[in-house]
Amino acid sequence: MSSGPRNWWRNAVIYQVYPRSFADANGDGTGDLAGVRSRLPYLARLGVDALWFTPWYRSPQNDGGYDVADYRDIDPVLGTVEDAEALIAEALEMGIRTIVDIVPNHVSSEHEWFAEALAAAPGDPARDRFWFRDGRGESGELPPTEWTSSFSGPAWSRLDDGQWYLHLFAPEQPDLNWSHPDVVAEHEAVLRFWYDRGVAGVRIDSASMLVKDPDLPEVGDHEPGGHPHNDRDGVHDIYRRWRKIADSYAQPRVLVGEVWLPEADRFARYLRDDEMHMAFNFDFMTRGWDAETLRESIETTLATHRDVGAPPTWVLSNHDITRPVTRYGRRDSSFSFETKRFGTPTDLERGARRARAAALLTAALPGVLYVYQGDELGLPEVEDLPAEVREDPMHHRSGGVDPGRDGCRVPLPWTSGGKAFGFGGPPWLPQPADWGRYAVESQLADPDSTLSLYRRVIGLRRELRDADFAWIPTDPQVLAFRRGEDLTCVVNFGDAPAALPDHAEALIASARLEDGRLPGDAAVWLRTRPSHQ
Ligand code: NOJ
Repeated sequence: MSSGPRNWWRNAVIYQVYPRSFADANGDGTGDLAGVRSRLPYLARLGVDALWFTPWYRSPQNDGGYDVADYRDIDPVLGTVEDAEALIAEALEMGIRTIVDIVPNHVSSEHEWFAEALAAAPGDPARDRFWFRDGRGESGELPPTEWTSSFSGPAWSRLDDGQWYLHLFAPEQPDLNWSHPDVVAEHEAVLRFWYDRGVAGVRIDSASMLVKDPDLPEVGDHEPGGHPHNDRDGVHDIYRRWRKIADSYAQPRVLVGEVWLPEADRFARYLRDDEMHMAFNFDFMTRGWDAETLRESIETTLATHRDVGAPPTWVLSNHDITRPVTRYGRRDSSFSFETKRFGTPTDLERGARRARAAALLTAALPGVLYVYQGDELGLPEVEDLPAEVREDPMHHRSGGVDPGRDGCRVPLPWTSGGKAFGFGGPPWLPQPADWGRYAVESQLADPDSTLSLYRRVIGLRRELRDADFAWIPTDPQVLAFRRGEDLTCVVNFGDAPAALPDHAEALIASARLEDGRLPGDAAVWLRTRPSHQ
């Protein structure tokens, strides 16, 4: 399928903005929408097609904004609805579309619906928009189920009146009941509210978790679709309705799913042509730096998406994941929330080389490329944040065992020196003393910098569009593939330099070639001439 204006998303480069940490225009130490506006020229020059904003709505920030108190308002720390409208419009003038985050599984405990529910007595219909239940045990002292929260501990909290309510994340994020008509209608209205303000699409948080089994069985062995609170078949009805709304606009809006599912066939169901347009490829993102495992992931990804006609997405990180420079610098460079612990030995230099190579690899693959803010600067994870500044409930609810996700959320460095490295006021998470070496300013001046690499590869990538993909046979330590007639991408995962095809011109490389050979932990894009010429 070709990528005209209606299909802009099929080959897009989508840049994720974590607004609190991007740029702080009013100097209060937290990034804001005016800060993003002031940096639009930077984003335009980087060459991105769209910005995805993590939630910018009014929120007590118990989970970095994924606890929404009011979808029709912008958090005052970030700005106003007028600021958002101006940002959406100004970005579009520069050719950059906007995607906003929708968090349908839960709301903030400060949302007016939850306040109403708490003020009501057990059994009152105001509680039906959530999952309120009596507990088990003689006096209801045990939670209704043994379900656990994704942030550690039980998924139920008890109120003074004895009832329990469900929260698959933090207690400040009560789960909504999607069989309640208000919940359905409100989300459809919220979609229209933002679509009417010109946003090009939505990223759907925790997209597979909305529908629950009302009988609340324990999690155990189950058939596909039989989990009590994940990937239940009924969830697809919601996205079919959302797709109709998205398609009702003259410029159809786009649905992007956050779908964490190990089974490729279950994942693909969200991408059927009357549901979402695309979903994040977490399979690729969580795999370690290894030719065989990445090749397998690429193959499965391409096959799965080919079957449903949706574009694959390539994601190296986001605001929940250890930064690639740090992750790829570890002996075990795969990612899982369960094994994330403090103090893993890390070779940052090696990680940085691999992260640059990974940028070239993912940019060369067919489909959509996501870039998390700061990855284009090669920022490492900030691992030594003092406990008292860490905000992430994932850290606090694990009793401090899990480092949490603050380390990938540290405010960006714009200048090599000066106050907060050009970010703004004293940053809400402290920047490391050497943050200036990663600054935009320093990297712009250096043609070999990671930022220069990203700018060039995003530019070159435009030529690839819908070019076909074919593997080229290589040593096991090397991945090589062709895009279209004459573009070849080669990635060397080994230690020894790898030979490159004859008659090839290097267009861009993540590291300097050695006597025409590709060093280890590096990638190159080659213009290859057909051999008969
Ligand atoms: C996924 C989001 O990316 C993450 O940051 C958040 O904590 C959970 N969903 C809950 O909303």
